[in-house]
Parts: sequence; structure tokens; C-alpha cells
Amino acid sequence: MNHQTSFPKDKIKVLLLGGIHPAAEAFFREQGFSAIDSRRGEFTEEELIDAIPSIHILGIRSGTTVSARAIDRAEKLLTVGCFCIGTNQVDLKAARRKGVPVFNAPFANTRSVAELVIAEAVMLMRGIPAKNAAAHLGQWQKSAAGSFEARGKTIGIVGYGHIGTQVGILAEALGMRVLYHDIESKLVLGNAQSVKSLEALLTASEVVTLHVPGGSATTHLIGRKELAAMRKGSCLINASRGQVVDIDALAAAVRSGHIAGAALDVHPEEPVSSRLPFHSPLQGLTNVILTPHIAGSTAEAQERIGRDVAEKLLLFCDTGATAGAVNFLPVALPSHAGRHRILHIHENRPGVLAAVNDVFARASVNIASQFLETDADIGYVVTDVDEKKGIGLKGELDKIPGTIRTRVLY
Ligand code: NAI
Repeated sequence: MNHQTSFPKDKIKVLLLGGIHPAAEAFFREQGFSAIDSRRGEFTEEELIDAIPSIHILGIRSGTTVSARAIDRAEKLLTVGCFCIGTNQVDLKAARRKGVPVFNAPFANTRSVAELVIAEAVMLMRGIPAKNAAAHLGQWQKSAAGSFEARGKTIGIVGYGHIGTQVGILAEALGMRVLYHDIESKLVLGNAQSVKSLEALLTASEVVTLHVPGGSATTHLIGRKELAAMRKGSCLINASRGQVVDIDALAAAVRSGHIAGAALDVHPEEPVSSRLPFHSPLQGLTNVILTPHIAGSTAEAQERIGRDVAEKLLLFCDTGATAGAVNFLPVALPSHAGRHRILHIHENRPGVLAAVNDVFARASVNIASQFLETDADIGYVVTDVDEKKGIGLKGELDKIPGTIRTRVLY
């Protein structure tokens, strides 16, 4: 992506915290930014409060909290990038009230998750975890019993979204039959077949893999009854959210031999730090693979996150586009070559758009194009004008009651 310089990038201060992948800084430099402060460590809330007044673009990972207090102190902040998947560490409402869109990279690690799931499906169907554990104890379990090829077997995908579809494509490349169950109607990739009920998918699959969102609607989606519905000797993989599987019921089903093997990357209780111990009822069951929520953690995913988020931040700074922001109205905008663009974020109350247009009309500035999005609380209007004098109207626009912020793109 190559962006037109629409604002003085050398004056824009970028603060990147928490060891964000160097791809992000490299991208900003390629695009003409030079005031970049990139640090390996995280900031405490107080450190961020001290630093934030002069920052235009803030990049964080999961370890830095961006509180309402910090956002209140931000004077120049245009946007925040979470160079990770989650955005809980940012007070999204406070950022929104300040007219600051927050971006993340929700799909940068999709492929990494899908690859691990496929590898685990193969390992489980061959009984490798148990054979590996035995070999480490000096036991030689050379036997073909309970060991199967993936080719020709059925994988049942629960949740056919970004990750589920990728798993389907990779499984098909191995010669597997792909079934999926989703609560929404989905575009089918390859030869995958939709299955109406979860139970029908469970009874038809040799491997079941879960790719649904977390939350109350999917808590214990797989419990005692569902495990019983699965085929004897089948395997279960969960790399979605820990609560999706009733872990005690799974432990019982593995112990009884009904479920031949399982791979769990996510757990109902995960330690908040690598220094804390991890406990699971599945510990000690040799054909169960337990991983510490790393399905999406690869060098490639980190690099992709670095680049993807940096691109979104720059696109917003350059054009005002907010598509993909987690706390803001999604506005996708064409470029504004040869024109001047004015962004106006306001409380959603009657008359603001009329007042904005009145400012332009009184100054005899012709509006070339205009984009408006509103939701219950805020309105975002982007106006392109031909005349350069339009950009001198920022002060007038700021005076309109309900204005949160006005920004001029040169
Ligand atoms: P997505 O939103 O693209 O797909 C989720 C799909 O599940 C949607 O198609 C939705 O319609 C479907 N769904 C929702 N409720 C359902 C139900 N009750 N039954 C069947 N289908 C249902 O999400 P994406 O990106 O594919 O992620 C899937 C899961 O993987 C999420 O829980 C996410 O948090 C998790 N994840 C885990 C990672 C890891 O490191 N282990 C990394 C990335 C994502």
C-alpha cells in the first residue's frame, strides 16, 4: 500500500510500546514518518499519562493499559493501534468519546491457528501424544492399533468463520471430508458440506474442531451429552475459547476411552502470567495435547499484526477511514486526491450536519462530496472540498455545539 502524503508525517509522533514487531516501525518509516519512539517495555498507567499529551499515534500490545485517565490527558491523539487481537486493555468508550478510533488485527493469526489444528488432527488420529509420552519414559509402543490416516476421514468444524473455513481448506488438501455446522448461513469453500444440527455433525465426524466465539451462548457447547453423541474413538480439538468445552466431562470421556484423544489450546482457567502454574483436569491423560493458548502465536502472525495494524492507523490518518475500528463507526472512504478533506466527529444530536454545511455555505466553499455515519451516540461526517479556504474553517466547525473534534487533511 502506498499512501499519498496528506499531512506532515515527520511532525507526527508515534509511540510504539511492548516490543511491537519491527515490521510496524519499518512500515511507518517507509511512509515518511520519522518521529517514532519504539520501546520493548510496556508503560505503567502513570508513565503513559506523562507521555500521552504529545503523542499522535499510540501503538500497544496486551500489556499496556490505556485508561480513561490517560485518554483524558491526550491532546493530540488521533488513533490507537492494539498490535494484538484483544482490545480489552483500552477504555474503548473513553476513546470513542474523545473521537479516537482504536484498531486491532483480528484475523492476522487465522492461518497459524488453522495449521496447528490440522497438525493436531493428524497427531491425535495416530495416537502420537501417548506414544511420545511413552517413548520419553523409555517405552517402545510400536503398534498400528488405533492409528489412522487423515485421508478419507471426516472432520467436523463447529463455527465456520475465519478460522473454521481455513481449517476446512487445509483438511480438504489432506483428502479429508469436511462438514461444518454454523448458526449463520455461510459461503461454502471447496467441497465442505453444511450440517444443520450440531448433533448430526458430532455423530458423523472422526475429528471435531471448535471455532466459535466465546460468551454465554457457547459456554459448554460441548458438554456430557455432546461428547456422548460423538463417535466412539473420535477426537476433539478446541482452539477457540476455554469455556466452550465442559472440561470435566471431557476428562471423563477420555478416561472412559469414548474419546480417543483431544487437543486443547484454550482452557477455562488460564494463568495470567507465564510465572503462574497451570492446572487442568486433563493433565496426565497421555493422548491429550495441552498447549498454552499459542495456536495463533507465530513469527508470521506477529509480523502480519505489525504490518496490518500500522496500515490501518496510517489509512485513518491519511483518509479518515475507520473501517475495522473496534469502537467507531465504520466509514470506508475513497482517496481525496486534489481535494481537501475535513473530518468532523460530533455528538449525535439534531442539526449538527446542517450546521456543518452552513459553515461551508457561508464561506462559499463548495462541497464536492460528503460521507456521514451516525449511531446512537456519535456522528462522523467527512467532507471533501475543492477550495483550499475550506481547511481554514476548522475554527468555525469546532464552535458548532456537540463537536467532539475536527480534523483537516490537507
Ligand atoms: P469468526 O467470528 O470469524 O467465526 C466464528 C463463527 O462461529 C461464525 O461463523 C459464527 O457464526 C459461528 N458461531 C457462533 N456461534 C455458534 C454456535 N453456537 N454454533 C456454531 N457456530 C457458531 O471467528 P474466528 O476468527 O474464526 O475465531 C474463532 C474462535 O477462535 C474465537 O473464539 C477466537 O477467540 C478464537 N481464537 C483463538 C486463538 C488461539 O490462539 N487459540 C487465536 C485466534 C482466535
